[in-house]
Amino acid sequence: MNVPLLDLKAQHRTIRDEVLAKVMEVVDAQLFILGQPVLDLETRMAELSRARFGIGVASGTDALLLPLKALDLKPGDEVITVPFTFFATAGTIHNAGARPVFVDIEADTYNMDPAALEAAITPRTRAIMPVHLFGQMAAMERILAVAGRHGLPVIEDAAQAIGARRRVDGAWRMAGELGAATGFSFFPSKNLGGWGDSGMVVANDEAIATRVRRLRVHGGLQTYFHDEVGTNSRLDALQAAVLLAKLPHLPAWSAARRAHAARYSEALAGLGAVRTPVTDPANEHIYNQYVVSVDRRDALQAHLKSNGVGTAIYYPLALHLQPCFAYLGYAKGAFPVSEAATARVLALPVYPELSEAQQAYVVDQIRGFYGD
Ligand SMILES: Cc1ncc(COP(=O)(O)O)c(C=O)c1O
Repeated sequence: MNVPLLDLKAQHRTIRDEVLAKVMEVVDAQLFILGQPVLDLETRMAELSRARFGIGVASGTDALLLPLKALDLKPGDEVITVPFTFFATAGTIHNAGARPVFVDIEADTYNMDPAALEAAITPRTRAIMPVHLFGQMAAMERILAVAGRHGLPVIEDAAQAIGARRRVDGAWRMAGELGAATGFSFFPSKNLGGWGDSGMVVANDEAIATRVRRLRVHGGLQTYFHDEVGTNSRLDALQAAVLLAKLPHLPAWSAARRAHAARYSEALAGLGAVRTPVTDPANEHIYNQYVVSVDRRDALQAHLKSNGVGTAIYYPLALHLQPCFAYLGYAKGAFPVSEAATARVLALPVYPELSEAQQAYVVDQIRGFYGD
């Protein structure tokens, strides 16, 4: 049997006509830059996140970079984040002109450890960037409490967490609802994926929203007049059309991912070599990835590959150990929880259209590998 990590064609078959109809509206109008589809998607994403503003941008990376640029960071300014994440989280801090400062993650959720955050704050700290990794939110209420004590903005990296939510003081709070600004990614493999690169900033801080809106059009809202130097980072109208057609399906897709996750976790329970994902009881996980922590990870991955099962390692090298960040001066062992995770994590197929038979096959292959 063949079970790919992701099967975008399976999803496409179910929605092809709806998406093409939306795309053809843009094609027939021949209006490809910003315009109504982008405005509509901005409104929908702000509504979904219960945030005040939505600003479509060219990628998830820019959805982090532009809010950081809006903070006017100076050399030596520090932004605190985690080393166990996709590169863009820290790459954008560097590219916005600040110094990435890392703090370790919690072993169970892989998200920022709020106690470590408090200890890392210095007089040069300018912002905090937690990541809602794999689709479950970081402990926002604890992170916001630290941020509030120090008067720091929180920029959420919610690239993997569109529609994720967390109970705070008895009420559901969406990814993007509590931070000053939040970056989402519509990279094709994300829970809500475009037909290419695209991203969205949602913001509650009006000053950041206004700056991001300007920065994405070369720093000038009036054509040919520039208040500051920005860039071209507009969300493509064709991508907005695709995403508008897909968005109504997102709740059902996330529910399907959760059902698959529950089935895996039950079927793999009791296998000593495999730790299934831990969801913080306050969280509703959207399983952008279903990541197990396993003994003999690389051998298991090779075994699954040779039996037709696609997997991926998110992430094999923590960011503080990347050659490009050697200048930050972190040594191996600086973040033991993150480093341990890089040696053990393996993402299994969890896309919504995955069949029960495919899942059972993946589980059989894992159990077979461990001689169970
Ligand atoms: C945690 C995280 N941050 C940022 C990004 C950047 O998004 P994009 O690939 O759309 O630029 C991604 C997506 O790959 C991500 O997973």
